[in-house]
Amino acid sequence: MNILGISGSPRWGGNSDAAARRALEMLGGVAQTTFLRISDYVIRHCLGCRECMSLMRCAIRDDDFERVFEQWQAADVLIVSAPVYWLGPPGAMKDFIDRSHGLYAHADKPFTRKQAAIISVATASGFEPHEAILSAWLEHYGARIIGKVRLLACEKDDLLTNPSQLRKLDEFVQGVKARLQ
Ligand SMILES: Cc1cc2nc3c(=O)[nH]c(=O)nc-3n(C[C@H](O)[C@H](O)[C@H](O)COP(=O)(O)O)c2cc1C
Repeated sequence: MNILGISGSPRWGGNSDAAARRALEMLGGVAQTTFLRISDYVIRHCLGCRECMSLMRCAIRDDDFERVFEQWQAADVLIVSAPVYWLGPPGAMKDFIDRSHGLYAHADKPFTRKQAAIISVATASGFEPHEAILSAWLEHYGARIIGKVRLLACEKDDLLTNPSQLRKLDEFVQGVKARLQ
């Protein structure tokens, strides 16, 4: 089993990175794990050209989108960890989501048979619409959501220095682990 942990935060070493890395560490016993930061790649904005509707893939070819999407497709389990930015995922993550539009009409959904878990991080609010975007996208492409968790953290090291939020994350990951075995 391959588990891909994705951080959708532009902040290197922040709470979403930490949550994804910790989840992968805990799941390492049951699977091969890989960590990926969306913001480490060049992913251009969707241009809205709609050429993808006939091409069945994105018309933009000169960036890392396909290389990154292939990593998502190669995984059995997706752990998506992202901060809430104004009620939704950060721009880099949203660009990645938008760029998958070319697969929208594919009969073979790219995430079929994949299980996905969503870790959301915010200072205080906005979890619901954020989770709605991530869930709708993952489910549209065939993934089954096996869990969601909402973590409170603001500054870079907040999560790793907050025992109650770490406990919440650990309990969540234990639940995910139980569902995978
Ligand atoms: C542009 C921007 C928008 C944000 N919007 C929200 C928000 O709507 N609700 C909230 O509670 N926190 C919001 N935050 C705070 C982040 O969710 C919080 O700092 C989080 O811990 C960042 O995660 P990271 O360390 O993984 O980058 C925002 C932060 C930024 C930079």
